[in-house]
Amino acid sequence: MQHLIDTKNLTLRQINSVLSDAKEFKTHKPIALLRDKLLITLFFENSTRTRSSFEIATKRLGASMVHLDLNKSSTNKGETLEDTFTNLCAMKPDGVIIRHSENHIPQQLADMNLTSVINAGAGNDTHPTQALLDLFTMKEHFGSVKGKTIAIVGDILSSRVAGSNIRLLKRMGMNIILVAPKDFMPKSDLEQVEKLEEIIDRVNVIMSLRAQLERHKKPIFENYELYANEYCITKELLGNRDILILHPGPVMRNIDISDEVLEDSRCKVLEQVTNGVYIRMAILKLLFLDS
Ligand code: CP
Repeated sequence: MQHLIDTKNLTLRQINSVLSDAKEFKTHKPIALLRDKLLITLFFENSTRTRSSFEIATKRLGASMVHLDLNKSSTNKGETLEDTFTNLCAMKPDGVIIRHSENHIPQQLADMNLTSVINAGAGNDTHPTQALLDLFTMKEHFGSVKGKTIAIVGDILSSRVAGSNIRLLKRMGMNIILVAPKDFMPKSDLEQVEKLEEIIDRVNVIMSLRAQLERHKKPIFENYELYANEYCITKELLGNRDILILHPGPVMRNIDISDEVLEDSRCKVLEQVTNGVYIRMAILKLLFLDS
């Protein structure tokens, strides 16, 4: 039984195979490789992109999907997560796709060995399919990402996208610079700066991140417009530089990235969303056909 908890559990060969399958799915109409498979989603946090793209990926591969609506589920009657998961597994799905606010939950459910567990984002630590689709988007643009420099900008401390990307992109040979105010900066041996202007001439990619307000125990900035003065990606900041702009979404317009930059051809935010479907198709293929 195969699980996807983080990219660090994938071998380089598996990562390359996911990237190459995603490219194939993007280029050619897929066939129903997973016709007899059934997946269940269990999302304890909100999602637009990840949940929809897992559903589209599942359907494009001919598999079926059931969403547990947590607002109408028996978790509201006091059923524990473990019991909810065990009962869903008693219906014999081929996999459960889970998003949760706690870092350890996907691994904990995987350790029960009842079905394949796919992590769709956990706490502030892991979001493996996001990191893979970000890598895919950069590779589509550059060919190879080895030796390229990425600035990760914003609330890095609370971001699972940053966590999974840092682990994956280091392995792929990228140089990573963390750019954030002190309150958003994690302990790290990576290069750290407070101002993007200091390093902008050295970067090939900027990955902007949203302030994860839902994870802050108390408000960090009273006024995010002041934060935006320093960290919003604007045309004035970019100038004519050839820099790819990424963001996992949802984008806080004019705080993370300006309206103008969101329309700029250097900005690949919607391309990331498109690629998310192909990467998730490739992950499903890896877990259910290739292992
Ligand atoms: N990138 C991402 O995880 O977006 P959603 O929260 O909308 O799924």
